[in-house]
Amino acid sequence: MIWRKYHEFTKHSVESLRRTPHVLDWANMPDPFRHYEGVPVLDLPADPPLPEIPALEVLYGTSGVTPARDGPAFLSQLLFYSAAVSASKLVPSTGYRYALRVNPSSGNLHPTEFHFLTRGLMEWPDGLYHYRPSAHMAEQRALGGLEMTLPVSSAPIVFVLTSIAWREAWKYRDRAYRYCLHDMGHAWQALALAARAIGCDTFAIGQFPDDDVAQFCRLHDDEWPMLMVDVRGSSIPLREPDAGETVWYGGHANQLSKEKVPHPRIDEIHAATKLSKQAWRVSSPAEPAPTGSGEITLPLPASSRRTFGEVVRLRRSALDFTGGKQSMSLAQLSAILRAANQPFYADFAAARFIQLYLYAHRVDGLEPGVYRLWHERVELERIKSGDQRVAAAGLSLGQDLAGNACVAFSMIGDLDRAARVHGERGYRYVHFEAGAIGHRLYLAAEALGLGATGMGAFYDEQVHQYLNLTPERGQVVYHFAIGYPVCDSRLEG
Ligand SMILES: Cc1cc2nc3c(=O)[nH]c(=O)nc-3n(C[C@H](O)[C@H](O)[C@H](O)COP(=O)(O)O)c2cc1C
Repeated sequence: MIWRKYHEFTKHSVESLRRTPHVLDWANMPDPFRHYEGVPVLDLPADPPLPEIPALEVLYGTSGVTPARDGPAFLSQLLFYSAAVSASKLVPSTGYRYALRVNPSSGNLHPTEFHFLTRGLMEWPDGLYHYRPSAHMAEQRALGGLEMTLPVSSAPIVFVLTSIAWREAWKYRDRAYRYCLHDMGHAWQALALAARAIGCDTFAIGQFPDDDVAQFCRLHDDEWPMLMVDVRGSSIPLREPDAGETVWYGGHANQLSKEKVPHPRIDEIHAATKLSKQAWRVSSPAEPAPTGSGEITLPLPASSRRTFGEVVRLRRSALDFTGGKQSMSLAQLSAILRAANQPFYADFAAARFIQLYLYAHRVDGLEPGVYRLWHERVELERIKSGDQRVAAAGLSLGQDLAGNACVAFSMIGDLDRAARVHGERGYRYVHFEAGAIGHRLYLAAEALGLGATGMGAFYDEQVHQYLNLTPERGQVVYHFAIGYPVCDSRLEG
């Protein structure tokens, strides 16, 4: 199995970091914004209304409403709360200013691009579009009724989310493919939750023939389709779909950097996890996740009335947490875990692949220690006692924030089970799920007045040893931390 070889090769250890030091070539940093140039660009109305439903309600599965009465207003709202630029940072020493978006991204490099197909939206031409977050506009790559012959979907809006692996590889080299997959999981949840906040349901499709979808969308060859997301619901302002010929504009993809450094290991894992036209419908029946129980049941979740719109636009990754004595409540933790535990709607989500392990540092009513969350019963099982701050930071590649947080997490992915069910493709799905859980953790923490940070960097094998994980229990795929964020003076509105 190629995924196993790739995963082994990209594990961090003290030795691997020492063996392969890396100096960033800033002059060759890839542009985080893709443009398809030379196509009509359609405005999305500025300042779309804020979804006022409380963020926690959306995370728990309740749908909101939208005042949008036409396609442009609806798309503007959907994208503003799932993919748009939301803030910037200024580095005082250099005067360098850079954009931050509603979705987090490893190294803020943003490998994920949002393409979408529309059919029958009021006052919006049917066609294929690429979202331009730098200007909150849509590039019209094709006009007319496109016959999406592949994963047949009659949804009025279908997103095709793509990854540009080079953006991540520039900094993270071979390990970057993992981060592209996490990022995709975040983007998926950002989209699914924003859609729910304005009254829609979504369904994600991971099983599709990659090359055919790439060809259908006429993607530049540095962009790889990773996930398709159907959006439907009675809140979408609809009319009859356009009849007639499709007009292709296509456009020229901008060059992202002077030189694209090859990463054959990334090409290999990507090729191995692709599906062909013949194989894309084939999957074995889902194998249920192992079940268990813990001695700690969680109290009623803490409440928050902070709106979805406010939470999404203000979400940030904490640079570090304050440490010290200030703790979070068990009710807050209960709310966060409840959000993480809600079902996912995707063709690869019949059974969970991720189990959460918690390093509880400062949670009222929960003794410091390591706990395993049993997803079905929402119970915590203590597997280690005592102060975990040094261990959590050490395992997270020495990042202080994992020790200064109130609680840190290791997400343990059952990569073997995913491969039994989905073959090599399963490697993607485990990481999508990890990213998606991470996204819910970010939003739940923000809703409760806390901060959060996803961490793709950790010492893989040391985590397994520390948690006494046998290979059948899975492998660490993502780390996370939640606490009281320190102030970041570089942040602008
Ligand atoms: C998959 C993933 C991995 C990340 N890994 C780390 C990490 O190891 N350490 C860290 O400090 N931040 C990490 N981050 C946070 C990013 O640096 C942050 O999202 C990015 O700088 C953009 O900032 P924002 O989240 O405030 O928009 C990670 C984020 C993601 C999505």
